[in-house]
Amino acid sequence: NIYPIILCGGSGTRLWPLSRESHPKQFLPLLRGRSPFEATLQRLQGLADSQPTLIIANQEHLFMVQDQAKAVGIESYQLYIEPCGRGTAPAVAVAAYQLVREDSQAAMLVMPADHDIPDHDSFRRAIAQGVAALHAERLVVFGLAARRAETGYGYIERGMPLATADGCYQVARFTEKPELEIAQGFVASGQHYWNSGIFLFGAAQFIAELERFEPELASACRLAADSVTTEHDTRRIGADAFARCRTVSVDHAVLEHTAAAAMVAADFPWSDIGSWHSLWDNAEKDQHGNVTLGDTYLHEVTDSYVHSSRRMVVGIGLKDMVIVETADALLVAAREDVQHVKEAVELLRAQE
Ligand code: GDD
Ligand code: MG
Repeated sequence: NIYPIILCGGSGTRLWPLSRESHPKQFLPLLRGRSPFEATLQRLQGLADSQPTLIIANQEHLFMVQDQAKAVGIESYQLYIEPCGRGTAPAVAVAAYQLVREDSQAAMLVMPADHDIPDHDSFRRAIAQGVAALHAERLVVFGLAARRAETGYGYIERGMPLATADGCYQVARFTEKPELEIAQGFVASGQHYWNSGIFLFGAAQFIAELERFEPELASACRLAADSVTTEHDTRRIGADAFARCRTVSVDHAVLEHTAAAAMVAADFPWSDIGSWHSLWDNAEKDQHGNVTLGDTYLHEVTDSYVHSSRRMVVGIGLKDMVIVETADALLVAAREDVQHVKEAVELLRAQE
C-alpha cells in the first residue's frame, strides 16, 4: 500500500519577509491564486491505488492546514501534528514507525509542499516508474536533469540502469547542497540530477537505514512514535519525546549514506519556489523582464521582482533587483544574491 505524505512544517526563510514562521511560504497564495500546499493536495488526488493522504505539519500551522484542505475540497486525510520543528528526518521517521505497526508492507510517497508541478500526467507517470523501481531498491528518489549549478538542491549521481524498471538507475552518490564549484562540476558531468525532494520509501526499509546510520536519532524517533496520541484522524506527537530528536533532513541523515537507493530520471516540469530568484525565474514577466505585484511604479527598471503589500513602491533606474515590501519589513537585494536572505533571517532571529 502506498501512503502519500505531505511535509509542510518548514519555515521557508528564504522568502522572507513575506514568508514568516507563523505564515510560511507553503501556505501563501503564490501559485495562480493557490498555495503550494493546496496545489500539492490537489496533485495527490487521483493517484492510482493510494491511501488517504497523511499531512505532517507544525502545530502552529494547524488552522491554515485545515482551512486550505477544505478550500480545495479535501475532507479525508490524516494529520500528524509536530509540537516543534525537527527537520524532515524525524517527521518521516515518526510516520514510518507508526505506519509499519499497521501495515508492514507500507510504502511512503513523501512530497514536499513547496514546489510547482503543473502537469499532473507526467507527474503520475514518474510515480508509476518509481513504484516499479521500489521492487528493485528500497528507497526511491526522483531526480530531474541538473540544468544549472544551483547550491540549494541535493545532487544525485546516476549509476547503472535498473534492469527491472524503465528510466530508473541506481544512485551512485547523493550530495546534499554542495558548494558552488562542486555543483558546477556536477552539472558539467552530465551524470547528475537535482533531487526533487520527492521520495518513495518502503517504511520498514527507511527505518532500517535510519537505524543503521543514525541509531540515536532512530531510537528518539521510535520513542516519539510511541508518544503519539490519536483523536479521530489527528495524531499528536508528544512534545517532550519529539524535542529529544535531533534536527536533521532526510537527505543528510539517510540519502547521503545509503547504498540502497534508486532514482527515477523524471522529466515533469518542476520548479522549486525556494527563493525570490526562483519565483522571478518561473513567473511571467512584462516586456522589461520585471515581475510586479501590488501597487508599484517602475521607470527604467529591468529584470527585477517588485512586490508591494501595503505601500506604493517606486523604482527608478534599477536592474536585477528584488524588492519586497511588507507591513513591518522591507527587503532590497540583488537578485543573484537572494540566497543570503536565509542567513540574514537567522542572524535576526539570534538577536531577538
Ligand atoms: N513536517 C515538517 N517538519 N516538514 C518540514 C520540516 C519539519 O520540521 N522541515 C521542512 N519541512 C518541509 C518543508 O515545508 C518542505 O515542504 C519540505 O519539507 C522540504 O524542506 P525544505 O526545507 O524546503 O528543504 P530544501 O528545499 O532546503 O531541500 C530539499 O528539497 C530540495 C528540492 O527543493 C532537499 O531534499 C534537497 O535535496 C532538494 O534538492
Ligand atoms: Mg524547499
